[in-house]
Amino acid sequence: MRVVLGVAGGIAAYKAAHVIRRLREIGHTVTVVPTPSALEFVGAPTFEALSGRPVTTDVFDFVDQVNHVRIGQDADLVIIAPATANTIAKIAAGMADDLLTATVLTTTAPVVVAPAMHTEMWLNPATVANIATLRSRGVHILEPAVGRLTGPDSGPGRLPEPEDIVAFALAAVGSDEPSASAQGGALTGRRVVVSAGGTREALDPVRFLGNRSSGKQGIALARAAHAAGAEVELVAAHVDTGLLSDLPADISITPIESTLDLQEAMETAQASADVIIMAAAVADYRPAEVGESKLKKSGDEGMRIDLVQNPDVLAGLVASRRPGQFIVGFAAETGDATHTAHEYAVEKFRRKGADLLVFNDVSADRAFGHDVTEVVVLAADGDEVVDAARLAGTKDDVAQKVTAVIAERLTPVESTP
Ligand code: CTP
Repeated sequence: MRVVLGVAGGIAAYKAAHVIRRLREIGHTVTVVPTPSALEFVGAPTFEALSGRPVTTDVFDFVDQVNHVRIGQDADLVIIAPATANTIAKIAAGMADDLLTATVLTTTAPVVVAPAMHTEMWLNPATVANIATLRSRGVHILEPAVGRLTGPDSGPGRLPEPEDIVAFALAAVGSDEPSASAQGGALTGRRVVVSAGGTREALDPVRFLGNRSSGKQGIALARAAHAAGAEVELVAAHVDTGLLSDLPADISITPIESTLDLQEAMETAQASADVIIMAAAVADYRPAEVGESKLKKSGDEGMRIDLVQNPDVLAGLVASRRPGQFIVGFAAETGDATHTAHEYAVEKFRRKGADLLVFNDVSADRAFGHDVTEVVVLAADGDEVVDAARLAGTKDDVAQKVTAVIAERLTPVESTP
C-alpha cells in the first residue's frame, strides 16, 4: 500500500520516525509530507533516509510533476501523525497552503488523523468543533492518549505510540495484515524504476525521428518487478498501442517523449530508486533545430538535417548513483565483419559500467516487437565480466528471470535505527 505520512509541527514529530519504520517493515511504501514547522523538530534528511524517498513541504517543488495533486491521488492511505491543532483547523477549513494540506484536499484515500497537543488546545471548543467536522466527513480520528505532555503538565493530548497509530490506521482501511507483497516477494520494499519504449526526437510539430522499439520488454520487466513485490515506476517513451492499458493500477507511469525528457525523468526517479532498469531504446542524436511550424519542401532539392548528440542517460545514472543502487542496462546489438554482437555487448558494458547488461542479438530483426526473445545477461565485477547466462522465452519469461537475477544480487535492506 502507498501510504502518505503527514507530519505536523509538534514535539511528537519524532515519533513519526517510528511510524515510518513500522510501515516499511510490514511492506508499505511511505511518502513523508511534513509541514514546514515539522522540519523545525525533525530534519528532512531523517525522513528521507527512513522512507527512502525525497521529502518536500512546498507545493512549488517538483511543479512539473504537479506534486501536490499527484501525492494525494497516488495514496492508498493518508496518516497525519502528529496532527497539531493548527493543521487540524486548516484541514477542517479546506485550506491548502502547504503540501500536506493540499495533499489532504486532493486525496480520495482514507485519512487518519492522530492529534497531539496540549490538553487546553485539545479541549478548546474550536478544536472540538474542528474534530467533529473531520469526523462528519469520514476522517478517522485516533483519540490522543492521556499522559505526560511536553512540559510538566499531563492530560489528554499525548500522541499514541507508533505501533498503535499504525494498527489503528490499517484497521481503518480494513487491512490489519501485512500487504500481500510483504509476504515474501523477492523485491518487497524495493523501489524499481524501469524505462521502456523508444524515444522520439521532434523535427517539427508533426514529425520526429524515432525507432522501432515496441516497449514490450520494458513493460514486461515493470510487471515482473511489481509481481515480485516492488513499488514500480514505469518511465514510458513511445510504446505500442494498448500495452499500458492493462498494467496493475499501482504501477505509476511517467510518460516521456524525447531523450532529454527521459534524462530528466530518470534523474528525478533516481533519488528514490533502489533499482533502475534502462530498457528504453534511446535516440543518440536529436535534430539541432526543431521547426516551430511544419517544415516545407523546397523545390526538388534534398534535405539535410543536422543532428546533435544526446546525453547518455544510462552512463549519467551510473556516474551519479548512490551506494547500493542497482542499475541494469540493455543492449540490442548486431555483429559485423570484425566483431560478433556479443563482443560489442561486452565492450558496451565495460564502457557504461552498469551492474548488469541484458543483451540481445538483433542481427536478423529478431527482437523488436516480437513476443519471444533470447537474451544474454552479462554480470560485471568491476571491469570483469564474471558470468553470462542465456535466457530464452517470451518477454514475460525473460523479464521474470532477469528480475530474479536482480533480486539475488541486491544488497540486503539496511536495518534502520
Ligand atoms: N542508453 C542511454 N542513453 C543513450 C543511449 C543509450 O541511456 N543516449 C541506454 C539504453 O537505454 C540501454 C543502453 O544504454 O540501456 C544501451 O543502449 P544502446 O542504444 O545499445 O547504446 P549506445 O550507447 O547508443 O551505443 P551504440 O553506439 O551502439 O548506439
